[in-house]
Amino acid sequence: MIFELSEEQLAVQEAAREFAQKDLLPGVIDRDRDMIYPTEQVRKMGELGFLGMMVDPKYGGGGMDTISYVLAMEEISKVDNSCSVIVSVNNSLVCWGLEKFGTEDQKQKYLTKLCTGEWIGAFCLSEPEAGSDATSQRTTAVDKGDHYILNGTKNWITNGSSSKVHLVIAQTDPEKGHKGINAFIVEAGWDGVKIGGKEDKLGIRSSDTHSIMYTDVKVPKENRIGEDGFGFKFAMKVLSGGRIGIAAQALGIAAGAYELSVKYSKEREAFGKPINRHQAIAFKLADMATEIEAARLLVYRSAWLKDEHMNFDLASSQAKLYASTVAMKTSVEAVQVHGGYGFVKEYHVERLMRDAKITQIYEGTSEIQKIVISRAITTGDLYVPTKTNKTVPA
Ligand code: CAA
Repeated sequence: MIFELSEEQLAVQEAAREFAQKDLLPGVIDRDRDMIYPTEQVRKMGELGFLGMMVDPKYGGGGMDTISYVLAMEEISKVDNSCSVIVSVNNSLVCWGLEKFGTEDQKQKYLTKLCTGEWIGAFCLSEPEAGSDATSQRTTAVDKGDHYILNGTKNWITNGSSSKVHLVIAQTDPEKGHKGINAFIVEAGWDGVKIGGKEDKLGIRSSDTHSIMYTDVKVPKENRIGEDGFGFKFAMKVLSGGRIGIAAQALGIAAGAYELSVKYSKEREAFGKPINRHQAIAFKLADMATEIEAARLLVYRSAWLKDEHMNFDLASSQAKLYASTVAMKTSVEAVQVHGGYGFVKEYHVERLMRDAKITQIYEGTSEIQKIVISRAITTGDLYVPTKTNKTVPA
């Protein structure tokens, strides 16, 4: 077992750290307060290759492994989680989904633009009445021969107004249940696509979260992803990968809050010595450091399983469940370490605490992760931690 990062991975980590500190940190408080979409920062992330990291270079992507992607997510998430959720959705839900399951024509037409950041993508599964219960899709796509007619409303869509391409999950044949669901590539500019108002959120406030309404939208048949009825499995498989990205975001939040706490506790004195010399604070830091390291191992391992083409469904749910718990706990404790200063915006930890909460909710709540994990461990289907089981489909 080797716990070392390669030189390439270390270089990606360093580049992401430098970018986050130089380009994201200045202005992050204002963008969060005023819900300003990070247009310039997203443009730069595209330029630096953070928006299509794992995509094959033949489509214009970075050709990197999932570990590198996770390292970049971690560094960006220490600073700006509105930016890191954009990175996560574009890389692991949209680009990966299209590269893995799309046709060559779809890749040429859409992936080439999405992986460079020229276009941004959105993943449209959740509905007003179908969040955790993802098979209960009310959005319909009626088969009209050479096209489908799409009607319905999607909720909580990250990149809702900035995206040019939506991957939309819809029910084509209700009698077939989840086997009658399809996934479609829909362009934001098509007739009948209407973007709802921007959500005013607790955290990740400068990312653009919207509802999207589809009214009689004509979707060409060539824009369906996979065989007829593949849409639900597409969504599940893509979300398994997405959960690695969100787990890395949670890890970054925890690590960012921890690093700020270590720095502050060295500088701040009380009762004649730095507060990190008081056991009350030192023990908090010890817990943070240990739990973050455990989360990091789970996150890196889930990325490694994906890179090794082993089944990562169980591992990504475990990583997301644990890392998001650690993000929440660590960021709350970081505010406590900072005392009154932790309660004001200038010191960053209150923002990380607000951002942490969403990692326990989106891309499957913690309760949904427990469903996935408990089913996997009771059936034994997905528990494949060794290379000898490499044949299990990824
Ligand atoms: N890979 C492939 N297939 C899978 C799968 C996976 N990981 N997980 C399930 N499936 C298949 C099952 O095998 C089954 O197929 P068969 O009938 O052919 O065997 C089918 O999908 C249905 O599975 P279940 O019976 O397990 O379905 P369920 O109704 O019990 O739901 C669930 C399972 C895990 C709860 C699922 O509904 C789920 O993950 N819900 C949460 C949805 C979610 O994560 N939403 C996030 C929104 S997106 C977002 O947040 C993005 C953003 O903007 C940040």
